[in-house]
Amino acid sequence: MIREEFVRKYAVERKETNCLKWDLLKERFGDPDLLPMWVADMEFHTCEAITDALKERLDQGVFGYSYIPDSYYQVLFDWEERHFGYRPKKEELRLATGVVPALYWFVNCYTEPGDAVMMLTPVYYPFHSAVTDCKRRLVTCDMNYEAGHFTVDFEKFEKLAKEQQVKLFLLCSPHNPAGRVWKEEELERMFSICEKYDILVVSDEIHQDFTFGNQKHIAAPAVAGGKYKDRIVLVNAASKSFNLAALIHSNILIPSPELRKRYDAYRTQHNQTDINLLGLIATEAAYTKGEEWLESLKSVIAANYTYVKEELAQHAPEITVCDMEGTYLPMLDLRKVVDVATDTKTRKVNFRPVSERLCEFVQDRCRLAVDYGAWFGKNFDGFIRLNLATTPENVKQAVDNLIRETRVERAK
Ligand SMILES: Cc1ncc(COP(=O)(O)O)c(C=O)c1O
Repeated sequence: MIREEFVRKYAVERKETNCLKWDLLKERFGDPDLLPMWVADMEFHTCEAITDALKERLDQGVFGYSYIPDSYYQVLFDWEERHFGYRPKKEELRLATGVVPALYWFVNCYTEPGDAVMMLTPVYYPFHSAVTDCKRRLVTCDMNYEAGHFTVDFEKFEKLAKEQQVKLFLLCSPHNPAGRVWKEEELERMFSICEKYDILVVSDEIHQDFTFGNQKHIAAPAVAGGKYKDRIVLVNAASKSFNLAALIHSNILIPSPELRKRYDAYRTQHNQTDINLLGLIATEAAYTKGEEWLESLKSVIAANYTYVKEELAQHAPEITVCDMEGTYLPMLDLRKVVDVATDTKTRKVNFRPVSERLCEFVQDRCRLAVDYGAWFGKNFDGFIRLNLATTPENVKQAVDNLIRETRVERAK
């Protein structure tokens, strides 16, 4: 489907629909009239294959206890194998009520209070909370950053792994918000360091379907022909790709029998989660019949990114638009526009402190609600993250506002 047609057909008004992104702006950003480009869901209706499958079940009108049908394993594993090079075995699958809850379970299951858990920063902030809320020790490995591109500092990675006696590495693959789709060599290098220091890897692959150009996501257990799969626990979902976040349903894959045993023991004691029937149905429908819809959506996101990149390069070159190999959430580096380094004041936005000057620029003047770099890592104040899974109209509005206020700054 061509992009314009997709937007015409699937764009939705989300205001006053109990929508976190649009209806809680006052509570989270202190201003109800901002253009919301923050939390990672979309202004698009999901595909009909999903709503049809859900409607069919709703019409049946029975929501009693259920189980995972064989067809679910089949389509999920076909999708994994076809796109990401890994065919799991049936016994590897567990379900979770969302990816973030699963991250908390893994931290609790596989580490002890006080143990060190490492991540590559900047990273999705619930990664940090999963560690600190569970009273583990947060070890952040800042990535190298140059001209809009993030890479792993492997020397730092190994040094921290060793010196901090890291027990668990929380990997985000593809990486939110660095926009990286990790190359197999990069993953192999990370995993070999983890092997050397006996570190378990939890791989959050919720953004697996969002890769652009010739980027290719590889599932962590498939890296190096499966060499590291016995130290990997993977969690993914169709929720990001098909806009199903509130159905709270995700997949856990644990290739190692030993790690499965530990997880099952943990689960018996601490989380007797059952399946979410509607999440299961939606996911199966997505992976059976949703691919064409997803490809069209991705073409809209890719065009939105090109637009942001080109317009800002032309009219506000002070702003660096970071690479977006994957996800739909590129970072923008505003440090040449707003001097955050000398800012002594902060403002609390969405419960977290951000440079007051940056908030003044982004919110009070550009009228945008965004995720701030400071939420993803303490050394990334001055960056913002834009959500591009929205209409070209919203993207244009955001870009116009950024250009207008950058010009004002330039003229000062
Ligand atoms: C890397 C990553 N993990 C997890 C989530 C959220 O997962 P869930 O809503 O299933 O808890 C997000 C949402 O943006 C994300 O970017």
